[in-house]
Amino acid sequence: MKPDSQNVTDYTNNNTIFMVWNFKDNLQVDDVFKRLCSLIINLNNSANVRFPVSRASCVMGIGYDAWLRLQLPQPLPKELVNFAPIIGEKHTAVASKGDLHFHIRSDAPSWCYDIASAITDLLSSVADSVDEVHGFRYWDSRSILGFVDGTENPHGQDRELFSLIGAEDPEYAGGSYLFVQKYLHNLTAWKNLSTEQQEKVIGRYKANDIEMADDVKPANSHIALANVGDDFKIVRDNMPFGNMSTNEMGTYFIAYASTFTTVNKMLSNMFIGSPIGNYDRILDFSTATTGALFFVPTFDMIDAFSS
Ligand code: HEM
Repeated sequence: MKPDSQNVTDYTNNNTIFMVWNFKDNLQVDDVFKRLCSLIINLNNSANVRFPVSRASCVMGIGYDAWLRLQLPQPLPKELVNFAPIIGEKHTAVASKGDLHFHIRSDAPSWCYDIASAITDLLSSVADSVDEVHGFRYWDSRSILGFVDGTENPHGQDRELFSLIGAEDPEYAGGSYLFVQKYLHNLTAWKNLSTEQQEKVIGRYKANDIEMADDVKPANSHIALANVGDDFKIVRDNMPFGNMSTNEMGTYFIAYASTFTTVNKMLSNMFIGSPIGNYDRILDFSTATTGALFFVPTFDMIDAFSS
């Protein structure tokens, strides 16, 4: 039987709210978590019926510490751990605590708002909201750096292949590893580069989104280091966000993967470098301020957790 996966393989949407919650210490959280599981199923069913055209959904991920605290099934999903920082000579992929992650997507911002609000109403007595980012589609799916983001994502059946756990961990088949990082960009420094210099940082041409030829693409460009081979891909759904008054312009990096090892390899290439020291030039303009790994159960698993 095909596992009843959450909306992991959905394509990018126009509006997103990302939320990270941490349970408060010394509180009984099991009952609220059970109600939360029912709520997530209810919200997604309701979205399918009420707003089929707006492709609305809410994906819930659960972190390692929360999995243990909630006494969810043992053994754990094989690769679910607390993300350990990746420390390069110049840049670090920091680790931050995250018990629950919500990835709320819709064409309609109203839906995103209502879902975030319903989750907040339920969770706030037992957990703290430690991050909330409202992402938006920027023109033709560009990051706030001005380059189209998502082009080399897997398409068609490859999306399932690269994002959903398969026979290698049968108890958790249909689940997914979710990794997120909140990046802040130094847009002042970025804008001081010429378009040609920016293109060398990314490895693609800015206006037409075409990849540079291998003999032109710098070895420290983002796509030269993030591409770890055709058999090792992830499903990304990054969203830009921006606040002029606080000067916080960024990218919320989000990836679903059938194996976290692939994400780790990409991060190692970017932050430590390949070879060591040849780190990703995008990091000279982008600082990772968070980093957390979650497991995304199927709806069937969430249903079981709710009772
Ligand atoms: C490609 C932006 C962080 C993995 C790209 C592209 C852009 C981009 C513009 C080229 C178009 C595309 O194929 O999507 C960013 C920004 C980031 C970021 C603004 C945050 C500062 C990351 C991280 C990872 C990653 C942390 C992995 C852990 C990839 C992969 C590709 C890619 C796998 C496709 C490479 C290829 O096969 O050509 N990214 N990215 N990115 N990025 Fe990122």
